[in-house]
Amino acid sequence: MPKSKKKRPAGGVKSWQARLTMDADQITAAFLSSLDVDSSLWQYDIAGSLAHARMLKEVGLLTAGEFRKINKGLMSIARDMDAGTLAMPIELEDIHMVIEKTLIDRTGQAGMKLHTGRSRNDQAATDLRLWARHSIHVLSQAVRDLQRALVDVARHQGRLVMPAYTHMQRAQPILAGHALLAYVEMLDRDHCRLAGTLKRLNVCPLGSGAVAGTSLPLDRRMTAQLLGFDGITRNSIDATSDRDFLADLCYCCAMIAVHLSRWAEDWIIQSSNEFGFVELSDAYCTSSSMMPQKKNADTLELIRAKGAGAIGSLAGLLALLKGLPLAYNRDMQDDKRFVMPAVAAVHQALVVARGIVATAKFNRQRIESDINAGFLDATSMAEYLVGKGVPFRKAHQIVGRLVSAAQANGKHLAELPLPALKAACEKFESDVRRYLGAANVVRRYRPEGSAGLAQLNKQLAYWKKELE
Ligand code: ARG
Repeated sequence: MPKSKKKRPAGGVKSWQARLTMDADQITAAFLSSLDVDSSLWQYDIAGSLAHARMLKEVGLLTAGEFRKINKGLMSIARDMDAGTLAMPIELEDIHMVIEKTLIDRTGQAGMKLHTGRSRNDQAATDLRLWARHSIHVLSQAVRDLQRALVDVARHQGRLVMPAYTHMQRAQPILAGHALLAYVEMLDRDHCRLAGTLKRLNVCPLGSGAVAGTSLPLDRRMTAQLLGFDGITRNSIDATSDRDFLADLCYCCAMIAVHLSRWAEDWIIQSSNEFGFVELSDAYCTSSSMMPQKKNADTLELIRAKGAGAIGSLAGLLALLKGLPLAYNRDMQDDKRFVMPAVAAVHQALVVARGIVATAKFNRQRIESDINAGFLDATSMAEYLVGKGVPFRKAHQIVGRLVSAAQANGKHLAELPLPALKAACEKFESDVRRYLGAANVVRRYRPEGSAGLAQLNKQLAYWKKELE
């Protein structure tokens, strides 16, 4: 049962709401509180407060003695937070007020001056930017690590000829490394996206106050510099109500998760009995509680699943922000409930993905045993005729008919006798054999970015330099 609202003298437990005469009941206090999610911001909150206090001292709003006390007090709070011993009553609403209230308890008058020229609105916006900056750093590292693992497999096992699929039907032969490096490309765009998000968000809102700034002579550039920001936000209204950078970060996470899910699906299929192309390490599989023979790719399935949460976070955050009038609204407190789980889940998925990749083996025997099924060399055969002056569309028709005939006789294109080829088109000579069979086709790929060995080596050299 919620305790009924109790009357109290002005200025009860919350030093910042003297104008209110009643405290919230327990359920309402819990409802108002964001401590369950924002307590993880404590390091950024303390860093922001230290910089703010230092600037207040420099502009003469704190004495050196007061600054020393605040500094010492914040450090002691940091130690307690680290040890997990700081009391965090939900009535204090959020981490910002827990830290300020504790500081006041420990330093008295000096602590009461910390919030000079500051609002929780610019404070929370600053903490979130610092948190997002750190998150981007951690995600970027994990993306890079996964890219390196993929490049490593491409270097050591990537010269294997395998089928590429379009529409999940056998299409053309490729080197395995080429497919692995396709994922490295996706992840590189993710890495770029994170860098772009970081560049945009790295400006400091402190000094914007609640919405309009302050009449006190704050040195915003000093605070920004102390916190490692590239500059300051230009407009106090926007600065206190902008959460675009969190939406950007959610999008980064959603996109990474989408890329990971595509890769996971690929490898779930390729590690199935039917394909048997990729062998996963037992360390990343689980078995069945009933079927003793099972080796399931559950880690890949869960990586595939993470996309749901990340996409949901992006949609949820956008829905939270849509229609909010200027400037700060309490709705924004819930921003963390979307972005924090997305970052955590995507980071975890990246780390596990790296382990899966680093321990996977391509099954050369299995892939090679069936490599000429599915007429992977049909396009190459048509291109042979193009080389003999046959217009491509015509060559396409000739080969299409030959594929049909070969299929009816259970043969590969390379097994059709020359007279049969000549009957289809007199331009066929015996040198067509050099264009047929998956290995021959891969050898013939010409333009940059194709799936052959020269292009693979070029890509490997590029990534070696880029990822070092
Ligand atoms: N916990 C709040 C948040 O994260 C802090 C801002 C509250 N500001 C206010 N004016 N009530 O959004």
